[in-house]
Amino acid sequence: MSETRQAATASPSGPLTGRVRVPGDKSISHRALMLGALAVGRSRVTGLLTAEDVMATGAAMRALGATITTGPDGAVTVDGVGLGALAEPDHVLDFGNAGTGSRLTMGIVGGHPIAATFVGDASLSRRPMGRVLNPLREMGVAVIAREGDRLPLTIKGPKSLAPIVYRLPVASAQVKSAVLFAGLNAPGETSVIEPVPTRDHTERMLTAFGAKLRREAGPDGNIITVAGRNPLTACDVIVPADPSSAAFAIVAGLIVPGSELVVEDVMLNPSRTGLITTLQEMGADLAIENVRNAGGEEIGDIRVAASRLKGVTVPASRAPSMIDEYPVLSIAAAFADGATLMEGLDELRVKESDRLAAVAAGLAANGIVHETGPDWLRVEGRGGKVGGGTVLTHLDHRIAMSFLVLGLAADKAVTVDDHATIQTSFPSFMPLMRGLGAEIATEAA
Ligand code: S3P
Repeated sequence: MSETRQAATASPSGPLTGRVRVPGDKSISHRALMLGALAVGRSRVTGLLTAEDVMATGAAMRALGATITTGPDGAVTVDGVGLGALAEPDHVLDFGNAGTGSRLTMGIVGGHPIAATFVGDASLSRRPMGRVLNPLREMGVAVIAREGDRLPLTIKGPKSLAPIVYRLPVASAQVKSAVLFAGLNAPGETSVIEPVPTRDHTERMLTAFGAKLRREAGPDGNIITVAGRNPLTACDVIVPADPSSAAFAIVAGLIVPGSELVVEDVMLNPSRTGLITTLQEMGADLAIENVRNAGGEEIGDIRVAASRLKGVTVPASRAPSMIDEYPVLSIAAAFADGATLMEGLDELRVKESDRLAAVAAGLAANGIVHETGPDWLRVEGRGGKVGGGTVLTHLDHRIAMSFLVLGLAADKAVTVDDHATIQTSFPSFMPLMRGLGAEIATEAA
């Protein structure tokens, strides 16, 4: 990521109109490169997200022995090394800002008798890695980490891993995925018990790559079991558009007066659609059209028109299906009639930033009345005039994009201190939003 901070300012804009397609899903893109690297043969990935986070995963997979090339048509081919045959990297693996890339790769490396050192940017180096390292330790993986299990850290997988049954202490698809990835190379069956369902891209993609995986309902939640030491076979992956990126255009379309726009091909996996459900409950004029299947995922076009929203209570049980969307939901909530209460937000404290604190500071800077607790946020809707503030993004792409969306519908322009971070997940955000009519100016800070 660029070392130079660059401010961006979004100004009150006229109606946003048009049809757009946001880039490929970040979760699926990471996993496609990882499973492509672990498989035997050549996998072809179309629609891969070419953003910094995914590029870091690509570099790591190359360091572990995979060959990754981009064809003239933009499709990416991954020539895998095969499960159990990963090379030991001869340099540190730098994951930049990417929590998913680093944590899932820890599972992959831990499953092999190799050592690797993980580093990242200031944001990633603050994030807790114990959630992934603890189950890996149970499986026999050696770890040397900085205080509090933070990056930089080095892990070394044992010759033979112990398969485990692991009950997730936090609702995290990243932890689930890391354990299952390590389990791929353990003799016997590794199970993850998931009391609260989280995104299931790993399970779907493992099955597509030929892993022996089963899902059962247990007394304590879903049980996902992978049988280790079965080869993975190369598979073609079609990456649908990322609902977490679509969220910015969708919310902008709802709150900028007079807007009507369509976001095409958005993945509708039910483990990711909590924001859509919530916006519909808020009275959004939102229609899902042209629903179809692409590469094993349901996709559709989302049409929104500017709407008079009303405040709602978003239950904690919905958090995993919209965990990355709370910052932008808080912006929608600021334009609703009445208050919106969001509960069960403890995981927001350990994202790219402490998102609860970053959102609260951004709302405060722009005159939006709100209240926070340890794991909840209450945003008062339409009150006085809003906007005019400068928001600190803390190396968090979703904070940057959410508050730029605020500026488009506010009474006064909103500045974010750093838009470079948007490159981690949505490099085309600025041109795409400007194409809809958004007024966003960028400058060196
Ligand atoms: C992700 C899972 C979520 C999410 C992240 C991507 C994934 O994290 O916030 O952006 O691809 O598995 P947690 O699983 O830690 O909640």
